[in-house]
Amino acid sequence: MTSSQPGILQPPSPLARHLVFQLLPGAEPRSVLLRLADSRFGNDGVVGLGPSTVSALAAAIPGLHEPAVLSGPGASLPVTPAALWCWLRGADRGDLLHTSRKIVEAVASEFNLDAVIDGFNFGGGRDLTGYQDGTENPQGKKALEAAIVQGQGGGLDGSSFVAVQQWLHDFKAFDSMSSQDQDNAIGRRKSDNEELKDAPPSSHVKRTAQESFEPEAFVLRRSMPWADGMRGGLNFVAFGKSFDAFEAQLRRMVGADDGVTDALFKFTLPVTGSYFWCPPMAGNRLDLGALAL
Ligand code: HEM
Repeated sequence: MTSSQPGILQPPSPLARHLVFQLLPGAEPRSVLLRLADSRFGNDGVVGLGPSTVSALAAAIPGLHEPAVLSGPGASLPVTPAALWCWLRGADRGDLLHTSRKIVEAVASEFNLDAVIDGFNFGGGRDLTGYQDGTENPQGKKALEAAIVQGQGGGLDGSSFVAVQQWLHDFKAFDSMSSQDQDNAIGRRKSDNEELKDAPPSSHVKRTAQESFEPEAFVLRRSMPWADGMRGGLNFVAFGKSFDAFEAQLRRMVGADDGVTDALFKFTLPVTGSYFWCPPMAGNRLDLGALAL
């Protein structure tokens, strides 16, 4: 039976770890990917393949491409293509480390580990600015409809496209804003998470209101805070049945549609931007049939 990788639809875990890989020169990832597909590393980690890996297999996944360079009056967003993404979920840092070591070793002949980003739950699902994140995520059947490919045939049904961006917060800039300006930047009240009826058009939730797009632009966000020494921010993760909804939201955020820039950019900026395709499952293993594997 075909289904999606379970971690996509499961509720956020207390901890997460992102492993980001690049292909080694001349890599032939076929056998390594088959091993990864068989030996899934724990029951709810998620594997995503970048466009370069799919090309290296002389295959194509309809709708998979690198992010476009996007800029608007307020921001220019980085594009950082990557070949393989493993999103480990768990509750124990030691377990995550040991699972990471196994994966890095298993793929080392073809993939070079480029980045490790540890994520954690803060304040019961808040961004490090203190705002509750994920409130308007679609639930149940709607989450499945937003995030999982359906009706496209074997090998594709059950798969998902994921956009991953590491955002670096400027905490000084954020702290220097009044609490009213902070609430207006998000469009919700930090104290009780109420949506502000009179939030300015630049507020983040006005920019991204999923029902306000034509067609509606729903994604399933699974972002988590990250921290490294004194630096920190949000590791933004959005699953979709394609990249269309995410791209529509991002275009509005940078002001590419109407010249209004998302107020988030006053205190945070993405430092990476990568796209991956997350294959479906067939029983207990990843189904790589769409790649002829
Ligand atoms: C550091 C970066 C970001 C932070 C701190 C952040 C934070 C938030 C917060 C606090 C909310 C309100 C609660 C909720 O519904 O989740 C929200 C909503 C939302 N955000 Fe973000 N976000 C960030 C980046 C992004 C990006 C890059 C996108 C997509 C391109 C995005 C898409 C959305 C969407 C779709 C909603 C729900 C809007 C609605 O339908 O009401 N966010 N975000």
